[in-house]
Amino acid sequence: MILVTGGTGLVGSHLLWYLAQKDSAIKAIYRTDEKREYVKKIFSYYTEDVDAIFSRIEWVLSDITDVFSLESVFKNVTEVYHCAALVSFNPKDYRKMRQVNIDGTANIVNFSIENNIKKFCFVSSIAAVGDSINNKSITEENEWSDNSDNNDYSITKYGAEMEVWRGSQEGLNVVIVNPGVILGSGFWNEGSSKLFTQVNNGFKFYTEGVTGFVHVQDVVKAMVSLMKSTIKNERFILVSENKSFKDILFTIADNLNKKRPSIKASKLLTSIIWRIDWFLTKLTGKKPLLTKNSAKSSHNKSYYSSEKIERDLNFKFTPINKVIMDVSKNLTL
Ligand SMILES: NC(=O)c1ccc[n+]([C@@H]2O[C@H](COP(=O)([O-])OP(=O)(O)OC[C@H]3O[C@@H](n4cnc5c(N)ncnc54)[C@H](OP(=O)(O)O)[C@@H]3O)[C@@H](O)[C@H]2O)c1
Repeated sequence: MILVTGGTGLVGSHLLWYLAQKDSAIKAIYRTDEKREYVKKIFSYYTEDVDAIFSRIEWVLSDITDVFSLESVFKNVTEVYHCAALVSFNPKDYRKMRQVNIDGTANIVNFSIENNIKKFCFVSSIAAVGDSINNKSITEENEWSDNSDNNDYSITKYGAEMEVWRGSQEGLNVVIVNPGVILGSGFWNEGSSKLFTQVNNGFKFYTEGVTGFVHVQDVVKAMVSLMKSTIKNERFILVSENKSFKDILFTIADNLNKKRPSIKASKLLTSIIWRIDWFLTKLTGKKPLLTKNSAKSSHNKSYYSSEKIERDLNFKFTPINKVIMDVSKNLTL
């Protein structure tokens, strides 16, 4: 039986759909009925018979930071896909992120070792890979380094990877994927999907920062292929193309028939905006729209190479223009 953590999130829900096409015994953990119901919305992007697929999943109420709630989860489980994490750029969430991403991952790794899990797939991030050396594309070999430029999310994803590598030292067969920014349908007001909603709502700003982008469907296909392969104890960058935020936002606007963002946000402008936003959040208590770290990373230019997975699995990524076209269609449904 397969266990999926984070099944009520972007990656996990698309993964559940993909797994449910073939594997019949799937267990997923969830925390609230509301989020579990939302998974049906994701399935509706693929099929009209949502209930038939949804009913094939055994749902277990659990929290990865609560070891008691995890006790019964691993019964009959042979493979684990660990997608659960807290993704946030709000400095207020640092402690919570350490708890969920590092301690939570340690719990899942420990239960996997105790229960003799055959193979374990962990969703890490390009945030846990090192910086470019001599302007070369970043590969799996680029070691993460502890420096003041790291944001809190990246620190906790690196810490989580360390827990998974520790598990591999203790005999667990692991594969790790390091996706770039994941584009996919659903969760329109959260995370990377917000790019679509913001452009749809007339967002005016863009930057020329560059990073790696990938389709959620490619992420889940790569995860399943790696789990089915004989590959173990390795990590793989998953990036279809390196693109500027300007390119991405313009392509989204074109596909949604909306106006392209027209104001280039300079470093100075974003640094003013995050300071104003910081002040407003202090007054209102609302979540920040732009933090110091996200303002900074929106200008970074980082180029990633996915040559390893392309070579080892003969993996083909979906071009990002096609991804944006497909995802945009679902937003306008
Ligand atoms: N989205 C991206 O662009 C991107 C890029 C690279 C890597 N990643 C990585 O991909 C993975 C999945 O990300 P995502 O975009 O799918 O995130 P997401 O949509 O925010 O989903 C996060 C999932 O984790 C679950 N979760 C959080 N805290 C939990 C806890 N204490 N116990 C149990 N479950 C918990 C959430 O459950 P609830 O529904 O109950 O909150 C949800 O199912 C993460 O590891 C993330 O770091 C994401």
